[in-house]
Amino acid sequence: MTRTARFALDPAFTVGTVDPRLFGSFVEHLGRCVYTGIFEPDHPTADEAGLRQDVLELVRELGVTAIRYPGGNFVSGYKWEDSVGPAEERPRRLDLAWRTTESNRFGLSEYIAFLRKVGPQAEPMMAVNLGTRGVAEAIELQEYANHPAGTELSDRRIAHGDKDPFGIRLWCLGNEMDGPWQTGHKTAEEYGRLAAETARAMRQIDKDVELVACGSSGQGMDTFAEWEAKVLQETYDLVDYISLHAYYEEHDGDRDSFLASAVDMESFIENVVATCDHVGARLKSKKKINLSFDEWNVWYMSRTDAEVSALDWPEAPRLLEDVYSVTDAVVFGSLLVALLRHADRVTVACLAQLVNVIAPIMTEPGGAAWRQTTFFPFAQAARYGRGEVLDVRVSGPTYDTKRHGTADLLHATAVRAEDGTVTLFAVNRSQTESLPLEVTLHGMELGEVVEHSVLADADPDARNTLAEPERVAPHAGTGARLEDGTLKATLEPLSWNVIRLG
Ligand code: AHR
Repeated sequence: MTRTARFALDPAFTVGTVDPRLFGSFVEHLGRCVYTGIFEPDHPTADEAGLRQDVLELVRELGVTAIRYPGGNFVSGYKWEDSVGPAEERPRRLDLAWRTTESNRFGLSEYIAFLRKVGPQAEPMMAVNLGTRGVAEAIELQEYANHPAGTELSDRRIAHGDKDPFGIRLWCLGNEMDGPWQTGHKTAEEYGRLAAETARAMRQIDKDVELVACGSSGQGMDTFAEWEAKVLQETYDLVDYISLHAYYEEHDGDRDSFLASAVDMESFIENVVATCDHVGARLKSKKKINLSFDEWNVWYMSRTDAEVSALDWPEAPRLLEDVYSVTDAVVFGSLLVALLRHADRVTVACLAQLVNVIAPIMTEPGGAAWRQTTFFPFAQAARYGRGEVLDVRVSGPTYDTKRHGTADLLHATAVRAEDGTVTLFAVNRSQTESLPLEVTLHGMELGEVVEHSVLADADPDARNTLAEPERVAPHAGTGARLEDGTLKATLEPLSWNVIRLG
């Protein structure tokens, strides 16, 4: 079999337009994501609101758009009323999800202030608690947040110092309600009814809200697909999105399978699309439900249970602080490729999470903030992955994996910007071999390779740490060129590549 991977690009064959919300992220009250992550009033870079400006700068550089809040599992015990009003009067509460104590020092108003400081590209994505609470609390939160003035709840917001409504348009109806670990876990029938009634009431306040119903917390759940079908049967006309969550890690040193994680992610997406469309067909509906992949990442989850059960209700402990290697970043890049390849239906996605907790940005309390290896693929995709996704059908070498069957060594996508420039995002999954790449370009006036950026390292386990925060960064690739309408390049072993054509 040929050792060269090939595909053709033609602007007549597209997948869909990338929604900017594909580059969302997630801030949960978990570990040090909020406290000593984005918010640390005593930090030398803190502004008047207690936000770390070194972190704000990195968040802007990362290019995130929608930022989901406040959980995650945390939201299933969340009392939004605790998180507003004078900070010194806010109650301290047990957070059952993570066995910690929540001070509520950072709350709803601080979250909105944080988004406004990130910049206009940052949009709120707020989850309501459908674990221990229900319809009433959801619409009260919506009224507090979004109603201009003249009611008890909206006037309470104004009295708390927020004259302008928060304008939250995108709402999640609970979190992972299919998971037995979730406080207030429900069956699909129970959740479907509750989500439908919550959605109906929220639309009575504002018919234009955008609502995400909980899908499965993983493709491996026993209830997967049946859950989506039952929930959508109740909510199809009332919601806009169904959620997907997926995390990947290397098991027992099986790196070949780990590198093919996106095979699972793509099948998950395609199975959820099929389920949505099946329900739509059954209901004879013309409407399409889109996908909100609102938690995705590499996460060494197998270590987490022991970490959490050892806790005795501390405040903002170090939790889920995975330190990502070059290999993790290559897999992470491949997950981004999977999302882009399905940009027609995945129109919201949130990298879980933003700071310290399985995050692209790390901080030291009172000290530095730095970029993890995964920061780079995300920042590059958020910057150059804007426009139309072109249809990429790879032919080339494959390899066998224990978990995901036969996988292409090349995993790739391409995005054409409004100005006609094209960016390729490509992963070489081979741990040992370089991969020659040939891309035939049809119907596009592309004259040069503007940049070939590579994330790879002689040590695939290299990481950025507090001691060595700049150990890993992308470098320039060599040899990529255009010859008679064909891009020719060589992808280093185990590498993430961004090739920009202008
Ligand atoms: O992102 C960490 C956790 O993963 C979230 O709280 C939960 O929704 C998921 O299980």
